Amino acid sequence: MPKLGVNIDHVATLRQARRECDPDPIQAVRICERAGAHSIVAHLREDRRHINDQDIKRIRQTVTTQFNLEMSLSPEIVKIAAVVKPDVATIVPERRAEVTTEGGLDVVANFLRIKKTVAILQDRGIEVSLFIDPVQKQVEYARKSGAEIIEFHTGQYAHAKTKKHIQTELNKIRAMTRFAQQVGLVISAGHGLNYNNTAAIARIPGIAELNIGHSIISLAVFVGLEKAVKDMLHLAKG
Ligand code: PXP
Repeated sequence: MPKLGVNIDHVATLRQARRECDPDPIQAVRICERAGAHSIVAHLREDRRHINDQDIKRIRQTVTTQFNLEMSLSPEIVKIAAVVKPDVATIVPERRAEVTTEGGLDVVANFLRIKKTVAILQDRGIEVSLFIDPVQKQVEYARKSGAEIIEFHTGQYAHAKTKKHIQTELNKIRAMTRFAQQVGLVISAGHGLNYNNTAAIARIPGIAELNIGHSIISLAVFVGLEKAVKDMLHLAKG
């Protein structure tokens, strides 16, 4: 069964709607861990639209499982990560105008910069994950960069509308998971996963972790965060 990382960014999104103190992402950390989440994920975006600098310091102090910080390659953010020292840093592409992370990192095109950043973070004892599309060349370059983990962007799968397209995307992820395992990488998956489409990804042999945010926080609005996490954990059993 893959582990479940819960992305708590949107607890902070709700807080920022009023720029008040609640809901507090720290309370979310405690509830997710109590419900059985294996990892807490948060993205410190360059525009600080949800999670802020103070949040990640407090998350670091609170998390008892694993803190996975999503971050861009921006030198400012890399410096912060090196000080805060999450257990895992997931490097993602970031564009200011985007609503969410729209695609995987292009490790081939940005290889030297990524390799350098991986080394800086690993030097601080942080494991590094690269958020990439399930494409062989990206996996090969991720391996070359020295990163220990890759996370497959499941957005194409999540947005596929026909049975045939869904199957094609699942096959791509399955084949690239096998390939990544062969070259010695640890594999996670995430983006757009919800209560309908997660089980099929969880059943792919070799996927070690699922990172899920929007769907869990959305359900939590109606049923509470603890139940929303527990229901997703159940689906992660495949
Ligand atoms: N994994 C990564 C690397 C992400 O950037 C995101 C979105 O912040 C997620 C997982 C979670 O995506 P979603 O909110 O669609 O579940």
